[in-house]
Amino acid sequence: MRVAVLGFGTVGVGVYEMLQQAQELEAGPVLVRPGKADAPFKVTDLEQILADPRVDAVAEVMGGVEPAYQYASAALRAGKHFVTSNKALVAARGIELNALARENGAAFLFSAACGGGVPFLHNLSLARESDEILSLGGILNGTTNYMLDAMQRLSLDYGEALQDAQRLGYAEADPSADVSGMDALRKIMLACAVAYDKLPSDGLLNEGIESITAADVAHFRSKGYTCRLLARGGRAGESVSAWVEPVLLRDGAPECAVLENYNMASYEGKCSGPIVLMGQGAGRYPTASAVLRDLSCILHGKLYMFQVDCRRVAADNNCKEQIYYVRLPAALAGDLPVESAELDGDTVRVVTRPISVSQMHVTAQRLRAAGASLFFAAIGG
Ligand code: HSE
Repeated sequence: MRVAVLGFGTVGVGVYEMLQQAQELEAGPVLVRPGKADAPFKVTDLEQILADPRVDAVAEVMGGVEPAYQYASAALRAGKHFVTSNKALVAARGIELNALARENGAAFLFSAACGGGVPFLHNLSLARESDEILSLGGILNGTTNYMLDAMQRLSLDYGEALQDAQRLGYAEADPSADVSGMDALRKIMLACAVAYDKLPSDGLLNEGIESITAADVAHFRSKGYTCRLLARGGRAGESVSAWVEPVLLRDGAPECAVLENYNMASYEGKCSGPIVLMGQGAGRYPTASAVLRDLSCILHGKLYMFQVDCRRVAADNNCKEQIYYVRLPAALAGDLPVESAELDGDTVRVVTRPISVSQMHVTAQRLRAAGASLFFAAIGG
């Protein structure tokens, strides 16, 4: 199977190199935007790829919704199989691309879009056939995991940790998608759609790590906690829950052993019980390996991850109640249901009574809109 590659950045180079070494796959032309990096078999016009009968499949690794959506639609209409690592594209337009692929008898696979090298979506898509998936989620962003780990173990400050993650090729072109939690949120959206046929597209909640400080991390350490950014999802009545937030985990919890750019993706099956998958969630070759895995799946007849009736729903994040740690100006502590509080000058570190995920996120949004600087994390996972 001859594969054209769209994009020649960190992942594109990895995909191209792996295609050159693959047995049943062959590297085809590489689409590079005018003025962008040079590449072997470089073309700058998608039509050259679509009109080439020797190209069977297109691997898109450019990122961003546009022009990727336009390119994906055109490739599928031309009957080319389409695989992608692009979370933003699948979260925004996956339903439409799934329908278009099926109309044209072409594949639409995107396992590299969630978990990097970790085969999370393929496992979910298989498990849901024979078991009921009760919940799913985990550490799904390599950049923020690298940063939290580096802040804790190497005592780097936030800016240094982010620079290192960018240098190592883990971060998105615009790293605000990583640190805001949006990248992990897109990944949990895809996982819910694969497991439940419901793509949560509204009512989603995400809190990233943008407001964490070295002092917060030192405080967590002194209390025996490690901070990780976790994505969560599951059934919620007729809908699904889907949210992302920092979580403080007691030393010894499995997530504390997830270091650097690694991800830990998990689901709980009604019959299987908890299943945990761990591996590199970001970086050139881990992500490229997932793209190649999708291409091999096509050769073995697996063409889709979304079912025919996969549809968008509004997420419901009201059910789950948790205890939260919140660091905020002391004068604002009264806005929270306080279980205990430690005063530190003008700042207070609060542990709340149990509150719903939505209540915590909405309260934080309201306080920030009024100008408050704060950080919060669920306690205990
Ligand atoms: N920026 C992403 C991450 C890349 O850090 O997880 C892999 O999806």
